[in-house]
Amino acid sequence: MTALTIDRINKRYGNLHILKDISIPIAKGEFVSLLGPSGCGKTTTLRCIAGFERPDDGSILFGNRDVTRTLPEQRDIGMVFQSYALFPHMTVAENLSFGLEVRKVSVPDRQKRIADVLAMVRLEGYDKRFPRELSGGQQQRVALARALVIEPSVLLLDEPLANLDATLRDEMRFFIRDLQQRVGITSIYVTHDQAEAMVMSDKIVVMSAGTISQFGSPREIYERPASQSVAGFIGRSNTISGKIAEALGQDSYKVDTPCGSIGTTGPAGLAKGAEVKIMIRPENIHTRKQCVGAGQKQEAGSGEAGKDENVLAGAVVNSVYQGSANQLAVKLASGDRVTVDVNGRNPLDVGEQVALRFAASDTWLLAS
Ligand SMILES: Nc1ncnc2c1ncn2[C@@H]1O[C@H](COP(=O)(O)OP(=O)(O)OP(=O)(O)O)[C@@H](O)[C@H]1O
Ligand SMILES: [Mg+2]
Repeated sequence: MTALTIDRINKRYGNLHILKDISIPIAKGEFVSLLGPSGCGKTTTLRCIAGFERPDDGSILFGNRDVTRTLPEQRDIGMVFQSYALFPHMTVAENLSFGLEVRKVSVPDRQKRIADVLAMVRLEGYDKRFPRELSGGQQQRVALARALVIEPSVLLLDEPLANLDATLRDEMRFFIRDLQQRVGITSIYVTHDQAEAMVMSDKIVVMSAGTISQFGSPREIYERPASQSVAGFIGRSNTISGKIAEALGQDSYKVDTPCGSIGTTGPAGLAKGAEVKIMIRPENIHTRKQCVGAGQKQEAGSGEAGKDENVLAGAVVNSVYQGSANQLAVKLASGDRVTVDVNGRNPLDVGEQVALRFAASDTWLLAS
């Protein structure tokens, strides 16, 4: 069931066209992240959903109810702002009570709901403290509790972890995701941190300059990016330019490149002769040394390449130790450089010739 439908909304400030035909369907209980660089329109989209901004056209539906022209307080939302926006002169309990009083919840009911939600965010016993008497992470959890205590049908979060240090951020990511799943609340989360979006979301909306570049699961976005800009924004990637030589199946192609012919996977319908870029993630390229299993005598790279496998020759031009892995830069015969992750205990030296192997199924074609 669709809990929330954002249907072709546009927003302009004067001559500036800030949101351009944004459409997002969100299922009940889903956790959806809006991800994109600063200024791409994430907060504006969230404010339109909350009702603090009104789109110039298009509509917003909560279930079947059109809320495009209703006020924020009539929308049944809980919102966590980047700055937390706790009332500084009120205790934790008073901060939580505020929304319940506005909704005319009875005193005994209020007390029970505040106690329940404080337990949920692991802040039992903190009800009489003022925000200034709490750490950043605790304030953040009060902000979350304040949004949840009114039992909204939709939870909106605008970069709620931006002010926290790296360790606390990590902890809070899992905390929020776990809580969201336990309560089963439909949530929209704004972030410009791709790792955060990847670990927390059911779906990610990748935004760029007021438009949606891609909408899909973290896996779809990482493995099947819709464009070079999405591929570049989410994780590290290599690209090799080429032209479609032949379609081998619905989504598999042979591509001619300056390094030779490469078997690839790509979106259906690419025409012969089309210019493409072959994307390969660094962790999906295996070097010759990595291919040799323990006790295996045969030199990897010397055997026949598997049907699905490509082998390219190159030379190591740089090697950076990163603890868990070594990051190699390898120069191909075409002059292109690719980044390869190898096991940190078995690095290849600069200057060494290597065979790079990668599966066609681990590549993805991007329109050039
Ligand atoms: N009230 C306003 N008047 C004019 N322009 C605005 C207004 N609010 C936002 N903008 C512009 O709209 C664009 C999108 O802003 P928005 O706050 O949605 O970006 P964002 O993706 O949330 O960025 P960030 O990651 O920096 O928070 C920006 O270029 C911003 O300058
Ligand atoms: Mg913002």
